[in-house]
Amino acid sequence: MQKLKGPGGAITILAIESSCDETSCAICRDGVILSNIIAGQAVHEQYGGVVPELASRAHMQNIVPVVDAALKKAGCDQSALTAIAFTQSPGLIGSLLVGAQFAKSLALALDIPLLAVHHMQAHVLANLIPTDRPAFPFLCLTVSGGHTQIVLCQSPLQMEVIGETLDDAAGEAFDKSAKLLGLPYPGGPLIDKYAREGNPDRYSFPEPQIPGLNFSFSGLKTAILYFLQEQTGKNPDFIQKNLPDICASIQGRIISILLNKLKKAAKETGVRDLCIAGGVSANSGLRNTFRQLGQQQGWQTFIPPFEYCTDNAAMIAITGYYKYLAGQTAVLSVSATARAEW
Ligand code: KG4
Ligand code: ZN
Repeated sequence: MQKLKGPGGAITILAIESSCDETSCAICRDGVILSNIIAGQAVHEQYGGVVPELASRAHMQNIVPVVDAALKKAGCDQSALTAIAFTQSPGLIGSLLVGAQFAKSLALALDIPLLAVHHMQAHVLANLIPTDRPAFPFLCLTVSGGHTQIVLCQSPLQMEVIGETLDDAAGEAFDKSAKLLGLPYPGGPLIDKYAREGNPDRYSFPEPQIPGLNFSFSGLKTAILYFLQEQTGKNPDFIQKNLPDICASIQGRIISILLNKLKKAAKETGVRDLCIAGGVSANSGLRNTFRQLGQQQGWQTFIPPFEYCTDNAAMIAITGYYKYLAGQTAVLSVSATARAEW
């Protein structure tokens, strides 16, 4: 029979995240993160994007040292673990399978429960890691490389997507714009860096008129492409000479698209506790503008610390913790899936 609690009644979760190009392992005890180790994969830079086959190979190389390092940093022995959580979906299937197989094997070897976690739900719950937490119900703008969603969260495991992108994600809008500017992958953090020195009002890009709470970024990408073609046609050094202003103007438009919809969602739902999450929530312009907007609107605003914004296992651990408390354990035959509804 599986034991249901660790020594002293503590609930200690080991969590694994491997949905894309970060191999991560975290240890969480009674909802408090003790360690969160993240190994990135520089191998993709030269290809201008994540190469799925190379990502799964790198996960296989990284996973054992990353898990060992997380246990060591937490001062935790495998025998103290209560359950193993892992990212089940969505993501690159080869990458997910490495984490899933490792998690299943460890749960089987230690004879403890397995917890299957949805990656996007975990991004939202990264907001429950710090001690200063939003009250339920709250709204979360989740912005990553693959998703852009507004989520209405009623309790840790009760969430509803009330708005999402119809085409590109906000992270893709950053990364594809960066590519057009000749910047390396992933370009989001570089646009953020150059934008700090630039004037966001110098160039004007259109805001799409999408009904309801949904988003669209494909028109913005096309507008940027035509704008750059026209300007470099006139002056081949245009990008080099105006990079900070171009980056600030692109970033400013992406932020206004995101926050105008969030404002609309807050108005429609009447919810006053608002969060942001996902890789793009590491963007300094979005963080500052979100806080300023919150002050203007009388919202309580919450932003996870940087290490919990981009992909990390701490958010998988906290979600696993709530799933464990709710008795939502997974069977060992559970499989990873590239796409999954909530
Ligand atoms: O959540 P995440 O780490 O992975 C996915 O689940 O997709 O998000 C990655 C995305 C990438 O598109 C990356 O360019 C973007 O987050 N990103 C940023 C910044 N840091 C990461 N975008 C803009 N500014 C940043 N500082
Ligand atoms: Zn993510």
